[in-house]
This record gives sequence, structure tokens and C-alpha cells, in this order.
Amino acid sequence: MKIVVCGKGGCGKSTIVSFLAGQYARDGHRVLVVDTDESNARLNRILGMGAPKDLLGYFGGKKDVMEGFRKSREEKSENSICNWAIDEIPEGYISKKGNMNLVAIGKIHEAGEGCACPMGVLSKKFISGLNVFKNDIVIIDTEAGIEHFGRGIDGICDVIIMVIDPSYESLRLSDEVSRLSKKIDVPLYYILNKTDENTSAYLRRSVKEKDRIIAEFPQDSKILSAGLIGEEYKGSISGVSDISEKLSSSVA
Ligand SMILES: Nc1ncnc2c1ncn2[C@@H]1O[C@H](COP(=O)(O)OP(=O)(O)OP(=O)(O)O)[C@@H](O)[C@H]1O
Ligand SMILES: [Mg+2]
Repeated sequence: MKIVVCGKGGCGKSTIVSFLAGQYARDGHRVLVVDTDESNARLNRILGMGAPKDLLGYFGGKKDVMEGFRKSREEKSENSICNWAIDEIPEGYISKKGNMNLVAIGKIHEAGEGCACPMGVLSKKFISGLNVFKNDIVIIDTEAGIEHFGRGIDGICDVIIMVIDPSYESLRLSDEVSRLSKKIDVPLYYILNKTDENTSAYLRRSVKEKDRIIAEFPQDSKILSAGLIGEEYKGSISGVSDISEKLSSSVA
């Protein structure tokens, strides 16, 4: 199963990716987290893992990636690129911890180095080419907003999770994500995050398609502290095991 996690900036996408990845790994799944966010470079820390090398580097960097993909299109050999199972991903470009694996597509490292389009192209190639087995769970962390829809990432996934924090922007974005998910016919679920009693009630009143809400994580000072020092959150998280069950039944 391929799960893509999206939402507005800072709503808690990466944190929730780490919760889900931990849960699936504890349940005995082989988990691959794919970091497609070209700006934020601390997902490995949240997962308590070492940082893999940018996958973009395996293909020679930005310029070579675009050139390589152009050639393969001309030669109609697109499918031969990145056609890997999780255990075939080249060493150094994947970090491992128990059942958990992490791949990072590529980051912006220098001012003026050019846009993130090659990362978008590679993200789609990598995710669509992945050879996923029954016990594998692929969780894709995205950049803030909805560019991943434009890149075609959501359309190659089995389920979309949108994280909604208590903000007008998140509510507005949930309408847009709902519209887009219907167009590509991929199931969409919401996770409310960083709520308290009042904001929870407000969000639950305001979200249009309430049956999409599958979990809620209240504002928690220990999660915030872990985020502040850039560390894995090791406390227990109630409700996370229900999510995996709901997702499995929705795509079965
Ligand atoms: N339930 C929560 N309670 C308290 N703090 C939280 C909670 N969820 C996330 N945070 C904190 O909010 C901050 C942003 O979280 P995170 O990096 O996961 O968001 P993001 O959506 O991935 O951000 P970005 O758009 O920059 O990628 C972090 O400091 C994190 O620790
Ligand atoms: Mg993030």
C-alpha cells in the first residue's frame, strides 16, 4: 500500500508520517518512508534514523536526471528506471532501522541552484516504479500545499491522508484536496492535529466531509519538545493503531 500524507505548512505531516511508520513497523510490516519534501531536511531525525544520500545523486544530480529521463522517453524505456523493490534500492541511498527504511528524493542545497522540478520528476518515477509487496507499506511525506497533486504523486498512491491543524488555511485546503482527490479517484482521509477542546469542536463542525476524519492528535507539549530539539518522539500515541486498520480496510 502507498500512502501519501499532505497538508499545509507546519500542520504536522512529518510528525504523523513518523507515527504511522512506527506503528506499521511495530506491526511487522516492511515500511519505506519516502521524503519528497525538497526543503525540509529533518525527517530522518524525527524517525530516529541516519540521513540517506539524496536519490537524485544516484542519477547524477539535477541536470543529468532531466537529461536521462528525456532520453529514456525518446527510447521508450521509461519503465526501466527506478524499478526497484525496497531491498533493491542502492546502498547509501536508503537508511534502515529495523523494519523501517527511508529514502530522500533530493534537497535544495545551494542558492540559485535551480527549481525543484527534477525532484518532482524523480519522485513520481521512483514511487510509480517501486515494486511493492503485500507486506510493504510506503509512506510519502510531501512538501506543504498541493504541488504534489500537480506532480501526479497522489494519483499513483492508494490512499491520501490530509493533516488538518486548527487554522482557516487548513480548512480551506481541505476543500481543495477533497476536490482534487475525487478527480483522481483516490480515497482521502483527514487527521486532525494540534487540537484542544475548543479547536477540536470547531474543526469537527467546520470540516465538510466529516466521515473522512479517521484520527485526532491533540496539541501535546512532549511532541512539541521533541520537534524543538529535532528528535524522535518516543512517547505513546493513542489512536495511531486504529488508523492502520481503517486504511487497510479502505483499500482492500
Ligand atoms: N500534536 C502535536 N502537538 C504538538 N506539537 C506538534 C504536534 N504535531 C506536530 N507538532 C510540532 O509541530 C511542528 C511542525 O510539525 P511537522 O514538522 O511534523 O509539520 P510539517 O507539516 O511536516 O511541516 P513542513 O510543512 O515544514 O514540512 C514540529 O515542531 C512538531 O513537533
Ligand atoms: Mg514536513
